Amino acid sequence: MTEPFSSKTIRASRIHLAQLMHPEHANLLGNVHGGWIMKLVDEAGALACMRHAQRRVVTVAIDSMVFRNPIKIGDLVLLNAEVTYTGRTSLEAEVQVQAENPITGERTHTNTAYLVYVALDDAGKPTPVPPVKAETEDEKRRMEAARERQSHRLANK
Ligand SMILES: CC(C)(COP(=O)(O)OP(=O)(O)OC[C@H]1O[C@@H](n2cnc3c(N)ncnc32)[C@H](O)[C@@H]1OP(=O)(O)O)[C@@H](O)C(=O)NCCC(=O)NCCS
Repeated sequence: MTEPFSSKTIRASRIHLAQLMHPEHANLLGNVHGGWIMKLVDEAGALACMRHAQRRVVTVAIDSMVFRNPIKIGDLVLLNAEVTYTGRTSLEAEVQVQAENPITGERTHTNTAYLVYVALDDAGKPTPVPPVKAETEDEKRRMEAARERQSHRLANK
């Protein structure tokens, strides 16, 4: 019989990424192409989940993403990702995106995204992940919200 996993904290797998936006990241209007941001968001979420599960993960679902403010070429995109939910083999990551003007230091929150990943074993099959553990009241509240989001996703599959 395999040993049950011990739980892991959210902070143990939290990820911070930063990337400068170059002209190659532009859309036809000269701002950053939304697809670049979606790719960075997916990478940041996957990294947090890989750190948590210590396994390869694949993206199974991405909730709708809304871009409220354009990100400019020359801005630094900052991504903070953490695991907010664990099921048996699935994990949800919350990814917060900010844009920083590196000259003035001014930061704008551009969006929050939620993505679900599945951990895979060496044969590429879904495999169990350690449960995530909340350490604060705020983490408990956000984990409860994540559980509700996941039950809505599964109900709407
Ligand atoms: C992810 C994948 C391995 C799941 O395989 P599967 O046979 O459907 O596995 P299961 O039905 O056991 O589901 C695995 C987990 O995903 C969850 N899941 C499945 N579909 C989901 C959805 N639409 N939303 C949220 N979670 C979902 C299940 O609830 C389950 O979670 P649990 O183990 O924590 O209860 C398979 O669908 C796959 O390979 N998809 C392609 C992944 C990929 O290529 N991503 C990149 C896209 S470009």
